[in-house]
Amino acid sequence: MDWLNNACFYEIYPQSFKDSNGDGIGDFNGIIEKLDYIKELGCNGIWMNPCFDSPFKDAGYDVRDYKKVAARYGTNEDLERLFVEAHKRGIKILLDLVPGHTSDEHEWFKDSKKAEPGEFKDRYIWTDFWYGEARNLRGIAGMADRNGIYVVNFFASQPALNYGFLNKTEKWQSDVDSPEAIATADAMCDVMKFWLSKGADGFRVDMADSLVKFDDDDKSATCKVWKRIISEVKKEYPEARLVSEWNRPRQSLPAGFDMDFMLNWTGNGYDLLLRDTGSEKPSPIFKKDSKRDINDFLNDYLPQYEDTRESGRYCLITGNHDTDRVSYYLDEDERKVAFAFLLTMPGAPFIYYGDEIGMRYMKELPSKEGGYTRTGSRTPMQWDDSETAGFSTADKADFYLPIDSDLRGKNAREQMAKEGSLYNTVKEVIALRKANEDLLDNGNLDFVLREQGRREFGFKRGNLLIVVNPSEKACTVDYSDVKIKQLSEKKYSIGDVKADKGAIEMGPVSFGVFAIS
Ligand code: NOJ
Ligand code: CA
Repeated sequence: MDWLNNACFYEIYPQSFKDSNGDGIGDFNGIIEKLDYIKELGCNGIWMNPCFDSPFKDAGYDVRDYKKVAARYGTNEDLERLFVEAHKRGIKILLDLVPGHTSDEHEWFKDSKKAEPGEFKDRYIWTDFWYGEARNLRGIAGMADRNGIYVVNFFASQPALNYGFLNKTEKWQSDVDSPEAIATADAMCDVMKFWLSKGADGFRVDMADSLVKFDDDDKSATCKVWKRIISEVKKEYPEARLVSEWNRPRQSLPAGFDMDFMLNWTGNGYDLLLRDTGSEKPSPIFKKDSKRDINDFLNDYLPQYEDTRESGRYCLITGNHDTDRVSYYLDEDERKVAFAFLLTMPGAPFIYYGDEIGMRYMKELPSKEGGYTRTGSRTPMQWDDSETAGFSTADKADFYLPIDSDLRGKNAREQMAKEGSLYNTVKEVIALRKANEDLLDNGNLDFVLREQGRREFGFKRGNLLIVVNPSEKACTVDYSDVKIKQLSEKKYSIGDVKADKGAIEMGPVSFGVFAIS
């Protein structure tokens, strides 16, 4: 059985997790020190944000050297030791691969921007004129001696790598199967194999849908590139696992990715579940007084989940380094129920570091390393409530980002010690998931109660029934509502949940898991 069937991931933003050498920036040795914490929580996988050499204009998503780690995190050998130490504890590590662009300080780009470029002339997308519009792509003019404009994938410092054009309309564009486009894909294969040979278990793939330029609207050309890259890599490393930043599982999973993320896109099903970022007064499904029901999520999620059931996993996250932390939208009780829901769904759940202890979104923080409004979700992990939060021995002024000024109740030490805390709820639900095969990815999923306008909902996973009441009002769920005759044992609950005489009585903001007899 694929280990992803019972995987539960923990996302680490390396600069903010744990500093081992007192320079105020998290590092590999710091992560090694905290592997037992991750194991104790119940996670058996880590996704680590980019840790490669970089000028950090986008927190490391601007890679200067794919085969060398950033000195601030340690050495390549330290990273290899992290793999070994993680494996000893049964934890796999996915590195963050950025295939769509590099830093403008990458050697390939330095060569390609010269007035007379050399070997890497076509590694990036350059026009053959030095001023004007690069069709509907974002082009940067006047930054290099080369007679051209380069196309960017994200920030100006992130030139797009050349995977060719599906519908080539200009001389300066490459075909998708041109030698230069193939060479770019080969270079990415080489990077992947390099890290897999050192002990990495796979990759989270940044902007995986961004490879081939227009008009690859249905992404068929980009999918073709991935099929080739992934089959090439898996020939040598069949156990490598990949998760795409894509949110189109119908495209990404058949292309060869093992997992795809459901991403926070304003107004989509996932956004309405936990955040509702598009509203002036956010009222996501898991907010006590929301008027929304679970269908706002399911109408988006379910058809995609059902269509891709056989080809891979559509994964749910508590958040990531790009989202506002969910604590900004939901109080602690609401989050317990929301996280319990995420952790009992199919796919491999991903927990963003610090979400399990209730870290806050520091909205007002000034931007750091291209973080902008994302900066507030990237502050140092709060290990305890001391002056430094147990993150680093450096002077606080030298911390990568300031720690939250109020650590009470929102630090690992306190959360771990307190019965019924958010941390312990997350830990217990992960343990429940692991102990019940029905709750793993493979287990079936059947939403038996999802009535329009009704706040409480219920779903079956194999022989288990899960009922959820996100509302501030108590409710009654009749057995017939959830299409059962009898319940046997209650396996887990949050809040007041009682099954008696043909009905389940649910207190405000509650969650229950029952065995069905
Ligand atoms: C998505 C990453 O998650 C984000 O942090 C980054 O800024 C962009 N891709 C560009 O690489
Ligand atoms: Ca450090």
